[in-house]
Amino acid sequence: MLSHQDNETLVRVGPGTTMGGMMRLYWIPFYAAADLEKDGQPQTVKLLGETLVVFRDSEGNVGLVDHVCPHRGAPLAFGRNEDCGLRCVYHGWKFDVEGNVTDMPAEPVRSRLKERVKLKSYPCVERNGVIWTYMGNEPEESRPPLPNLEWNLVPEENVVVTFRVQECNWLQALEGEIDSAHAPILHGRIDEGGSINQWVAKRDLRPTFECMRQDFGMSIASRRVLDEDTLYWRVNQFVMPFYSLVPPQANEFYELSGHAWVPIDDENTLCIMFSYRPNEPLHPKSRKVFLEGHNGRETGHPSKNGYDDQGALVPYGRYVSKYRRDTGWLFDHELQKTTWFSGLPGLWVQDAACQSGVMRVYDRTLEHLCTSDTGIAMTRRMLLEVAHAFAESGAKPERFSDPDLYMVRAISMKLPKDDAWVDSGKGPMTAKLGEGIGYEL
Ligand code: FES
Ligand SMILES: [Fe+2]
Repeated sequence: MLSHQDNETLVRVGPGTTMGGMMRLYWIPFYAAADLEKDGQPQTVKLLGETLVVFRDSEGNVGLVDHVCPHRGAPLAFGRNEDCGLRCVYHGWKFDVEGNVTDMPAEPVRSRLKERVKLKSYPCVERNGVIWTYMGNEPEESRPPLPNLEWNLVPEENVVVTFRVQECNWLQALEGEIDSAHAPILHGRIDEGGSINQWVAKRDLRPTFECMRQDFGMSIASRRVLDEDTLYWRVNQFVMPFYSLVPPQANEFYELSGHAWVPIDDENTLCIMFSYRPNEPLHPKSRKVFLEGHNGRETGHPSKNGYDDQGALVPYGRYVSKYRRDTGWLFDHELQKTTWFSGLPGLWVQDAACQSGVMRVYDRTLEHLCTSDTGIAMTRRMLLEVAHAFAESGAKPERFSDPDLYMVRAISMKLPKDDAWVDSGKGPMTAKLGEGIGYEL
């Protein structure tokens, strides 16, 4: 349970809030490069409570600008994206990717108004198919470099990255993924089918937890008993400010995976999921299943068939899925009786339905934490400490601008019962670009 005040500190992310201010220290991944064409339709997005429009100009540069025209407020989501700029359809003011006004067709030729008006804009960079922005106050020369997150550094054929909107606060979504106790239960099946029945974690549904604070965030280790001599350790990682990494399952085509839980605003989260093989291309079948679903159900990734475009003005409208609150996440009671423990149609849908719950911003004064919530409690405590230090003295999280701090992997290891996961896992928890996981699953 959290006090109301601590809960508020953690969940509020808009301009002027403590957590929002902390997140603005970091580069933020926010769009799929492939979904933005040169001179294509501008897209409405929202980040940390600010509604914006993203577009790619004729030269391929990406602009992330205010969604409101500074003349008289027309929506720039309807702007004409042509000849290296975005032109408001109301009176034709035109803006470049940096928010400079380059044309005012209805103004006298000699007018100098152009020089005095500026559209809010944030800098963008692209790396391996993902567009990142920086929303902080630092000038270019003192911004941190992009974090070296392995999923965004491996060759594109090694990775699938997908985007979807979830109707809840960022922390609710994050907490769902650092909680390893739910996985064999919520995602379980009551029939004999499917690979989930092969999960090693199913062999012990009562894990115990050990957490270790790290400069990058928190390692959350769950310990399950396999037999008298062997323990199964799954170590999820929370990586500042909003990433989670999930260990591989024991299977020939394992992937490393996880999410960036990017706050759209207090009540919505952009869930960027990545699955990758560190040292070789993804199996074509895995890629297909991630992008298209499996037997009409969703995997951990939102499938192309599940998107339900909400139109030009809804932030991330094209990444909204038909599996959502107002469709009851297409819960199927028949399926619950015959196949899936939850009756919810697919992995991420099961997570999203439970994480989003009945409140977009959960009131954590109502909860009753238990043993398996150790990782969640420790992560909150760490976030509160860091947030308070930042709010009180402007102290930034330790090493936050060191790009290699983020070279981290989640691990799943079967170890003799006397071996410590912190020692045996130390090497494998460090990402080494181009190298495999280095242990038997
Ligand atoms: S409102 Fe955009 S140009 Fe007038
Ligand atoms: Fe899950």
